[in-house]
Amino acid sequence: MRTAAAVLGRHARAPTVRGFYAYLESVARSILLIGGRVLQSRCLPSEDPSGHPGRRARGDAVRLEGKVALISGGARGMGAAEARLFAGQGAAVVIGDVLEEEGRRVEAEIVEAGGRALFVRLDVTIEADWTRAVAETVDRFGALNVLVNNAAILRTEAVLETTEETWDSVMSVNAKGVFLGTKAAIPEMRRAGGGSIVNISSGAGITGSRQSAAYHASKGAVRIFTKAAAVQYAPENIRVNSVHPGPIDTDMLAMSDPAGGTRLTEPGREVPLGRPGRPEEVAYGVLYLASDESSYVTGSELVIDGGRTAQ
Ligand SMILES: NC(=O)c1ccc[n+]([C@@H]2O[C@H](COP(=O)([O-])OP(=O)(O)OC[C@H]3O[C@@H](n4cnc5c(N)ncnc54)[C@H](O)[C@@H]3O)[C@@H](O)[C@H]2O)c1
Repeated sequence: MRTAAAVLGRHARAPTVRGFYAYLESVARSILLIGGRVLQSRCLPSEDPSGHPGRRARGDAVRLEGKVALISGGARGMGAAEARLFAGQGAAVVIGDVLEEEGRRVEAEIVEAGGRALFVRLDVTIEADWTRAVAETVDRFGALNVLVNNAAILRTEAVLETTEETWDSVMSVNAKGVFLGTKAAIPEMRRAGGGSIVNISSGAGITGSRQSAAYHASKGAVRIFTKAAAVQYAPENIRVNSVHPGPIDTDMLAMSDPAGGTRLTEPGREVPLGRPGRPEEVAYGVLYLASDESSYVTGSELVIDGGRTAQ
């Protein structure tokens, strides 16, 4: 007896085989789609409808689950944005700053939103403060996995107007502070089997400008210190990276540009995206470097500047 396929001949069999392959393809597509959604829900930040980045992300979209992060200068500006974002992504966050009232406010805000946070008084220029901040972090949350060296001060004087005192204070907070923080954190990260240190440098650590001498020098120091530490501690799975923000809408930017935005349009230094950044736009970059998503990234420079240093 001839089979139906034989009766219908080659022309009829072809669509059947094609149909089978189409079926296989659609099954494969569904698997990829479902897999993609699962991956996306595990890796990407979910938008909180309240717009509050400190609120815990929904579902399992937590990128810092089980991590403990210490953020210097976390009482306001970008440091506070990072603290809120990190807490919303599952981290226990320690806010270290000289501004007690503001720091405690950020702590309370995170706790109220269901996160874990602690404020510690920290002057980044004092080694004993770092020792205490790290000890309090470990006492309270059991480990230290992430350090964000974010605290800094800005002075805008050019070389001839910079006094020795200004030079020393800027270098002390911005460069020595990063060194002391890194030195205090590494032993705890070793104990934890690794860690991530994110040093907030600046576009000012890559290029010069008409404004400021000490600030440029300090941010350049942070950039290259980051690479030295990255190479030295990579064998212990401690990653160290720098972030280079452009003009970001914080108190520091307001101080650097009392004329209200003229630096954004300075000839040759315009921001191609045409606006200052928001603290959260930097915080998301810091989050990536803090998380295990960047497990093969160390000694690198993440520029977040609206295209400014690209020109
Ligand atoms: N805002 C910008 O346009 C911009 C651009 C590039 C880089 N940055 C860098 O980003 C980081 C955050 O800056 P921001 O704009 O949020 O500034 P900000 O002035 O709003 O915040 C800085 C924080 O650091 C703290 N701080 C200062 N000295 C300290 C000390 N000795 N010990 C502990 N904390 C201290 C301050 O109290 C404050 O909370 C800094 O490293 C800054 O240099 C800022």
